[in-house]
Amino acid sequence: MLGKLSSSLRLAKAIRRDPCGVVLELMRTRGDVCEFGAGPARYLLVSHPKPAAEVLREKSDAFGKGIGLRDARAFLGDGLLTCEDEDWAPPRRCIQEALGVVAPEELAAVARGFTRDALARTRADTSPLRVSDPYAFMAQITAATMGHFLLGVDIRERFPQIHASFEQMCLHASSGMTNVLRLPAWMPTPRRARARLAAATLVTQLRECASDRVARVHATTMAASMSIGLARVRGLPGDVQSQVATLLFTGYETTACCLAWALLLIGASEATQSDLARADGNGHQVETRSQSRSLRLANLIREALRLYPPVWIIPRVARRQVTVGGIVVRPGTSVLVSPLTIHRNPRLWAEPEAFHPDRFSNGAGAADHGGAFVPFGIGQRACVAGNIAVAEAHAVLDEILGSYSVAAPPRDEWSCVALLTLRPQPQSPVVLAARESTHTVEPSRVKQVGGSKAVDTVAPPSHDPAGHPR
Ligand code: HEM
Repeated sequence: MLGKLSSSLRLAKAIRRDPCGVVLELMRTRGDVCEFGAGPARYLLVSHPKPAAEVLREKSDAFGKGIGLRDARAFLGDGLLTCEDEDWAPPRRCIQEALGVVAPEELAAVARGFTRDALARTRADTSPLRVSDPYAFMAQITAATMGHFLLGVDIRERFPQIHASFEQMCLHASSGMTNVLRLPAWMPTPRRARARLAAATLVTQLRECASDRVARVHATTMAASMSIGLARVRGLPGDVQSQVATLLFTGYETTACCLAWALLLIGASEATQSDLARADGNGHQVETRSQSRSLRLANLIREALRLYPPVWIIPRVARRQVTVGGIVVRPGTSVLVSPLTIHRNPRLWAEPEAFHPDRFSNGAGAADHGGAFVPFGIGQRACVAGNIAVAEAHAVLDEILGSYSVAAPPRDEWSCVALLTLRPQPQSPVVLAARESTHTVEPSRVKQVGGSKAVDTVAPPSHDPAGHPR
């Protein structure tokens, strides 16, 4: 009994230090579905697509949204990610309609514009550009793009405050999993006080964003389209605020993580990079080459999503007794469906730790690898905008790789921040060398590159990337 207790406390401590390392180790040593205790809580880790489908699709009514997402409600209210049961279907329909406002080619053009702005600071500088925090760099691009479509405003000046609020949300939400002692919800703690303050700041920021251009908000923004849709189905326009916060957060955070990992992976692999240099010249050969480049870029994004899925855990809680993968799960158990462990499961993938974008081009069904590729979740609560995320990631990477060669430290020097999402630690710098400068940087030399310019904050742009007047 005492031995069991001390091992579950040890596990809770290990999860606090390295949550990804712990779940990967559990998947390797204890199998595709395993129960474990961490502190007083019981968990079921799911690392195979079959039991994952039981939880997320076939028996989804036996589960509610789980640890982390429940705590995120203080910020996201009853937004689409965190709402439950009958509160879910009408907004899902409205949001899908609102996402229809986003034309893929316009999305790509806007994302490219914000990317060019973010890179523009290097133009006067011949030395390579050092992006010391690839995630922060990408988050500004993806947040600006999301703000453009969601609210029809440029949110970049407000982004530091908005981001700080969402950071508090991530810390607050993820501490639910790593804290051994979970205090009752009514008990005041400094962390809860910080979270309340951050949630209030977020509301103010979003209201001010919306009022920046209130006179110009029309049905071509997602927020306006959502507002019309929600008022129609529920007569509750107040819900729009939760939905805007949800879409802004889900829209920028996950795509920024994906882009940051993709950039690091490209930078650490010289072979991938030479494949991705933009085709130049004219004629049929170029057309063929740029088509194949586009496919390579798509496979690279898939491989980045496989190795480093931004949503690394999809949390649920059992509402009643239910069987998953042959294991009887008691009510109240936290069930963690993990895209990370599914994607790195050696029983499902050859060389799961290796970076091989080409694994997605080998034959029929390669794209989802027989259901083992689940970065966007599965079932009725699967991501509502995976196609948008991929199109945006494609445009941003294409823009960067068209003009720059990328160098990053080797993979064994990277580490992760695993909160609600999985992102690289800020200490994983990337160096971008302008191609026309013929200055290429070897991945192994990134740390020694001196005199390069750090850009993690983007100056307010001189123009609206979509060409709209300010
Ligand atoms: C690479 C980028 C993205 C990844 C990896 C991702 C992943 C996911 C995953 C795994 C879920 C399921 C969560 C669950 O079942 O609890 C989800 C849900 C969701 N995602 Fe995404 N997502 C991405 C981009 C986006 C974007 C760009 C948006 C918005 C524009 C978005 C909006 C949402 C929303 C609203 C939900 C909740 C859907 C529902 O419950 O009906 N996501 N996402």
